[in-house]
Amino acid sequence: MHMSSVIPDSIPFLDLVTPHKELEEELTGVFRKALVTAGFIGGPMVEEFESAFATFCGASLSIAVSSGTDALRFAIMACGVKPGDVVVTVPHTFIATVEAISQAGAIPEFVDIDKRTYNMSVEMLQQFLEEQCTRGRSGQLLSLRSGRPVTAVVPVHLYGQMADMDPILSLAGKYSLTVIEDACQAHGAEYFSKKLNRWMKAGSMGRAAAFSFYPGKNLGACGEAGAVTTDDAGVADRVKVLRDHGQLKKYYHNIEGYNGRLDAIQAGILHVKLGHLSKWNALRRDRAAEYNQLLAGNEDLSLPYEPSWSNAVYHLYVIRASDRDGMMKHLKQAHIGTGIHYPIPLHLQNAYTRLNYGPGDFPVAESASAEIVSLPMFPQLAPDQQARVAHEIVAFTSKTVCKLAESEHILSA
Ligand SMILES: Cc1ncc(COP(=O)(O)O)c(C=O)c1O
Repeated sequence: MHMSSVIPDSIPFLDLVTPHKELEEELTGVFRKALVTAGFIGGPMVEEFESAFATFCGASLSIAVSSGTDALRFAIMACGVKPGDVVVTVPHTFIATVEAISQAGAIPEFVDIDKRTYNMSVEMLQQFLEEQCTRGRSGQLLSLRSGRPVTAVVPVHLYGQMADMDPILSLAGKYSLTVIEDACQAHGAEYFSKKLNRWMKAGSMGRAAAFSFYPGKNLGACGEAGAVTTDDAGVADRVKVLRDHGQLKKYYHNIEGYNGRLDAIQAGILHVKLGHLSKWNALRRDRAAEYNQLLAGNEDLSLPYEPSWSNAVYHLYVIRASDRDGMMKHLKQAHIGTGIHYPIPLHLQNAYTRLNYGPGDFPVAESASAEIVSLPMFPQLAPDQQARVAHEIVAFTSKTVCKLAESEHILSA
């Protein structure tokens, strides 16, 4: 949302106008090229983007599709997850993670998140596999909760920071689970794998990964778009069939598929923007470092935690405050945009009452959702804007401290 045209000194949560203005010539060139060739769906512009995006992610293959949700659903299906299988993920993510699992016919089951990184807790995953599963007659791993085979795990690289992939991959190996990364918020994020002794990009560690190019993402289309990355040619072929009505050859349908293809114009736009992504990600990291400095030492806040193995790309800059709602109200009055990602964990959403979870089942996710707030974060965010955001936050927290001190004084008087 671009609000600065409404109120001169407002600071939007996200500015999508400026970066597109900067690239206007190149982007309209893509449109002109598509008009000349009338190749609107699939074709060379899509293939060229797919190849460039695979290279960017350090994966052998990338298959462009029509959204991140489709990418994740197709990846899950293409990796061989069957209807009725259990897929393990986290409750603290955008609903699309779980929609993709259940719309692939699988049963989502949750493990809690780590309280500092907000990503899948390795301890909780291990506890789930050791204590909430059993071996069936054929040796298959069964969930005690549903009695169904557990076959895959979907770690989400939330806010632009990768989940702790080494231990997740080794647990998955031990229990024969397929790992599918939800990398929808993590284009270009890196993880230092001790096992491989090198930095690995999001989208290059699981059997397959899903990316979203929703406009507000670090790499965003001018509309809906997504991609699957994988090193597995079989997975890639199955995704291609799924995205195109179950056909590899026109009108020969081996399975029932979907209309999940990407428009050539969106692929062309993404290809142009991909050339700027590393610079934009570096700017996001700078902006995050600036916030870290400006907000350091404020005892009422918890700032983002980045482990030494992580090189995060700050899709979102998320802090934690006990009076989160009060702070958001204060910032709104100062014309500063904020967001909550996400206010209700998925196990407590009305859409998932059928999963039979309840309050208290995932306490870390529940307390995070009550206290987190996302501050303005985009590559073009200016230092003076950040200084004003920090100034208002400090003003709010010191006012709260004064109010507390006052009430304690009244009580003790
Ligand atoms: C973590 C996560 N998973 C999946 C998705 C779904 O992507 P899309 O909106 O492109 O379908 C998103 C994007 O919003 C996301 O943030």
